[in-house]
Formats: sequence, C-alpha cells, structure tokens
Amino acid sequence: MIMRTLIISLLSIGVIAAPSAALAANEPIQPIEAAKPKNADMVELGKMLFFDPRLSKSGFISCNSCHNLSMGGTDNLPTSIGHKWHEGPISAPTVLNSSMNLAQFWDGRAKDLKEQAGGPIANPGEMGFTHELAVDVLRSIPEYRTRFKQLFRSDKIDIGMVTDAIAAFEETLVTPDSRFDKWLKGDKKALNQTELEGYKLFKESGCTSCHNGAAVGGGSFQKFGIHEPYKTTSKAEGRFAVTGKDADRFMFKVPTLRNVELTYPYFHDGAAATLEEAVDTMGRLQLGRTFNKEENAKIVAFLKTLTGKQPEFKLPILPPSTNETPRPKPFG
Ligand code: HEC
Ligand code: HEC
Repeated sequence: MIMRTLIISLLSIGVIAAPSAALAANEPIQPIEAAKPKNADMVELGKMLFFDPRLSKSGFISCNSCHNLSMGGTDNLPTSIGHKWHEGPISAPTVLNSSMNLAQFWDGRAKDLKEQAGGPIANPGEMGFTHELAVDVLRSIPEYRTRFKQLFRSDKIDIGMVTDAIAAFEETLVTPDSRFDKWLKGDKKALNQTELEGYKLFKESGCTSCHNGAAVGGGSFQKFGIHEPYKTTSKAEGRFAVTGKDADRFMFKVPTLRNVELTYPYFHDGAAATLEEAVDTMGRLQLGRTFNKEENAKIVAFLKTLTGKQPEFKLPILPPSTNETPRPKPFG
C-alpha cells in the first residue's frame, strides 16, 4: 500500500514516466497547439495594422506600443501611457494567447478579438483617434487600398475590415512549446525537481480551480479578494461595470499565466512588481493560505516554465503616407 502510494505520487510529480497521453489528459492544464492561420494574406495585413502608428491621432502609438511583441505582448508598466501621455486606468494584459480568453478586457466587455480591436483606436486615453479618421488614413495609401480590395473584394475600407484583419493576426500570437508543455507531452526531463514540486503545490493548493486549461486562465471571471479584500487605489470594479450586478463587483477575468515571467507587473492595477509578490497575494487572498519562502519559490519556478516560443516574424515594412494622408496631430 505504501509502495503503491509512493508510485502514484512519483507518477504525479513526473519522476517516473507514465504514458504521456494519459498523463496530459489527467492534468488541469493542456498544451498549447501551434497556430494554423486560415488566411496568410489577412494575417499579414493584420500584422501591418497592429504595427501602424498612423491608426492613432498622434501618428505615434500603435497596438505594439502597449502590447510590445518583443516583450511578451505587454508594456511592462503598471498602467499604460496613451495619447498625450495620458495615464491609463488599468494594466495592459498580454495579447499573447488572448484568442483563448472567454472574452476580452479585465471585465470582459468585448466578446472577442474583433470587437476588442475597435476599442483602443477610438479611446481618447489610448490612440485618441476616430474610426472614420483611421479609415481615411488607410484609404489614402495605395498599398493598403490594394490589400483590402484583394481580401474583401470591395473598393471601400471600413472599420469592420480593419478589426477582422487585426483579429486574424492576433489569433496567430500563440506560444506553444514551453518547457511545461514539453513535460505535459511526455518529456519528463523538461522540468527539474523544484519546478515539478512547484506544479504540485500549484495544483494541490487550488490555483488550478481558476488558472486552468491551455491558457492557464482566461476561462472565467472570479472575485479578486475571496479570503480577504484586495487593497488598491484603482477605481476598476471588474465585471460590475458590464452587468451592473452587485455580485459582480470585483469579479475580474482570470488572467492567463502563460508567459507570466514576461508580463510583469501583475494584477489589473499593476501593483505587484514581482511574481513572488503576486503568488503570495494569490495564496492569501484567493485560497486563505500563506506560502513559506520555499513554497513560494517553487511555485514561481513552475510559473517560469510556462514561457513558450514567442511569435517570430519579419517586422512589417509599412507603405508610406501620400499627399492625401491626413497629418498626425501629436500634440493637438
Ligand atoms: C495606450 C495603450 C494601449 C494601446 C495603444 C492598445 N492597447 Fe490593448 N489594451 C490596453 C489596456 C490598458 C488593456 C486593458 C483594458 C481593460 O481591460 O479595461 C488592453 C486590452 C487589450 C486586449 C484584451 C486582452 C485581454 O486579455 O483581455 C487586447 C486583445 C488588446 N488590448 C489588443 C489591442 C489592439 C489590437 C490594439 C491596437 C488596435 C491595442 N490593444 C492598443 C492598452 C493598449
Ligand atoms: C478563485 C480564483 C483564483 C485562484 C484560486 C487563484 N487565482 Fe490567480 N488570479 C485570479 C484572478 C481573478 C486574477 C486577476 C486579479 C486582478 O488583477 O484583478 C489572478 C491573477 C493572478 C496572477 C497575476 C497575473 C497577471 O498577469 O496579472 C498570478 C501570477 C496568479 N494569479 C497566480 C495564482 C497562483 C499561484 C494561485 C494559487 C496560489 C492562484 N493564482 C490562485 C484568480 C484566482
């Protein structure tokens, strides 16, 4: 009996090999599969738009300014800086693997990536533009006209086409092949002992009740501050802003923990500078459990194994503006 328990626990921490498919199926986290883009030309156009600062009033801010794909798809700031150095109200989540979210934004107010992508262009505190002016810019540039025409078979360009293309690009921003995924798929050497023990703690203490699935989050809205309230100066109230229901106050979308090593600082207010601090807060507030230093370090070690292969592509070279292109207003 003791022997049997020992074997099972060795199995569960992956010290001895088990048939990989069976093991992965029993885990609360699944590996991320590589993106299979349906339309390469659409993805290419979306990539150009993602990097094009001319979709902002200043001509200076692109999606990539706040979702920097060289830095884990975020800006690594507590809250973002928008048009005219506007101080943003909330921390920018990563765009990596965001296609797996049940909805977009911390409060889930956009149902999908297409609906989300229209938001920042017209948000006065982000890109500070209007959809009409953004489309006017694109219409004034012959290469954009040609690309939109080929893809949408129309001489017109509208914001729906712009957001379709951006969403198609964002769907390719997945990060497979993390060390943890290799372990899930049966490569038992992919994790060391500390990382495995961290994963075990992560599972057994209940983190996976909220952080699960392929994205290790993104699948539900949960209250932040279950065992004790979260203290913050941020005015964000989470899901309540969308539903107006009292029960939804301080319910936030559970963030993905994929690439969490890269997406500091943490929480919707960006108040936790380090993973150690975020893990400590989660233990106490969400589970009523205080991890000692060693346990905390093990969980952090596990979380760092969730860093996957970052999207790689050629930097898009954007077509120049023309005499007809509306001029940027960086200070207006
Ligand atoms: C000025 C900084 C800024 C710019 C520019 C910006 N974003 Fe964001 N983005 C944010 C912030 C902040 C949030 C979180 C807002 C919230 O939840 O209320 C966000 C949220 C998102 C999300 C939701 C992710 C999730 O997990 O919920 C996606 C997707 C996204 N942005 C894509 C884009 C795209 C596409 C563009 C360009 C059209 C863009 N962003 C431009 C700051 C920015
Ligand atoms: C009851 C659900 C729940 C449980 C259990 C839970 N979390 Fe969370 N986690 C959340 C929510 C919700 C947030 C977002 C909070 C916010 O900023 O509004 C979050 C945020 C995080 C973040 C910050 C991610 C980021 O990008 O900002 C980390 C790291 C994290 N959790 C790790 C853990 C760990 C480790 C455990 C177990 C000790 C755990 N969580 C348990 C719901 C949960």
